[in-house]
Amino acid sequence: MKILVLGSGGREHALSWKLRQSQLTEEIYCAPGNAGIGQEAECLPVDLSNPSEMLDLANRLQADLTVVGPEAPLAAGVVDVFEKAGLAIVGPTGAATRFESSKVFAKQFMHRRGIPTARFTTTEKFDEAIQALKQFALPVVIKADGLAAGKGVVVARTNEEAEQTLDNFMRRKALGSAGDSVVIEEALAGEELSFIVLTDGRSILPLPPSQDHKPLLDHDEGPNTGGMGAFSDDALLDEGLRAEILQRIVHPTLAGMTEEGVLFRGFLYFGLMITHEGPKVLEYNVRLGDPEAQPILMRLRCDLVELFSATHEGTLGAHEAHWSPNPAVCVVLASQGYPGKPVVGKTITGYDLAENMGGVKVFHAGTVFKDHQLITTGGRVLGVTATGEDLAAAIQQVYAAVSKISFEGMQYRRDIGAKAFQRHSGLLGRSSINRVDPAAQNSQKYC
Ligand code: AMP
Ligand code: GLY
Repeated sequence: MKILVLGSGGREHALSWKLRQSQLTEEIYCAPGNAGIGQEAECLPVDLSNPSEMLDLANRLQADLTVVGPEAPLAAGVVDVFEKAGLAIVGPTGAATRFESSKVFAKQFMHRRGIPTARFTTTEKFDEAIQALKQFALPVVIKADGLAAGKGVVVARTNEEAEQTLDNFMRRKALGSAGDSVVIEEALAGEELSFIVLTDGRSILPLPPSQDHKPLLDHDEGPNTGGMGAFSDDALLDEGLRAEILQRIVHPTLAGMTEEGVLFRGFLYFGLMITHEGPKVLEYNVRLGDPEAQPILMRLRCDLVELFSATHEGTLGAHEAHWSPNPAVCVVLASQGYPGKPVVGKTITGYDLAENMGGVKVFHAGTVFKDHQLITTGGRVLGVTATGEDLAAAIQQVYAAVSKISFEGMQYRRDIGAKAFQRHSGLLGRSSINRVDPAAQNSQKYC
């Protein structure tokens, strides 16, 4: 088969890497891609906001299957355009992207469908928003309705900060029209978890659990980013919690979507907070998370082309996924200035040494090859990913690999996975960590 991947980040590198390993893949293309993806696939230029350009490219390449990574082409309606033209594509329709692109819409949907989430109110009037603050204790969470590249959510610790945030979003238009409406919600305490499923609209295939690290600095300090690292480890979930997430959140969400006329096909991402009252939804994303994709796909032990073909054909229920039981950890190396304006054009050294280490894969995001040198071109540059027998071994290996790589101004977190490791080793001990029981899984098998 000829496969086309759309996107240019670490997630698309992980997808291209895994898709290339399939026996079914004859040719693999990625548009626009990056330097690392260029080692797995032929990279071609494309405008990810222009569905007819992406359709022309797929037709020209005679692609048998197209896989969409980021949100922008989905929101532009690339899936609708491909389906109308009779081309096979994996991803949700433009209408379904509202679950990610409008927080007001997503929260109102959760409320209508009885899906556990933080108590909230929504408004498009500044004065009403100020009044609404009185209904919430501090800290209080203010969310801009629209997409804001990680800058649209503020957990305000004081009334002044809350009012200032509302003023920035609604009156000063700091985020443009994304802040015209806001969600104000109670702050939830607990542990965050990324729970992602692949669905063909009928069956679901849950991926192993993962955890993102959004703030820029160690100990979750500094501004939020697209994600500075993630790990995937079965110990994040026990059997009971997994069943609760499926029963109270995943199934009602998909049933609600279907009843409201949205046939969701592709990856659906549940950003959760595991509170003492159980799991609650912080947000939906209509795609695979980045950087969660890197450690998750590192653990995949079966044919991804088969899974995507089944997703397109609506036969996912007949398939199982096989995962390595070993955890994987991804540490993002970012440019100076990120998440603001990154300083780019720096030469990267040592990435080849890192990649030659056992159990390590270096996924690229903002990179280009120029005169035989690897050069930085964006905010998030590399996602160094490693697996290990257990979380401690994976963490050790990933940081050993990171220590080989350098570029001027390189910044990264030193504590990816550390909190979970400390908690599990302190409370449970390695041998008593709950493992998912293969026999009890639907569409999921561990090997
Ligand atoms: P979101 O884009 O809605 O996932 O929010 C970004 C980040 O803000 C989340 O990953 C959480 O760390 C934090 N956050 C969002 N909503 C809440 C909430 N209700 N309580 C506590 N933290 C939150
Ligand atoms: N890692 C969260 C996201 O992809 O938005």
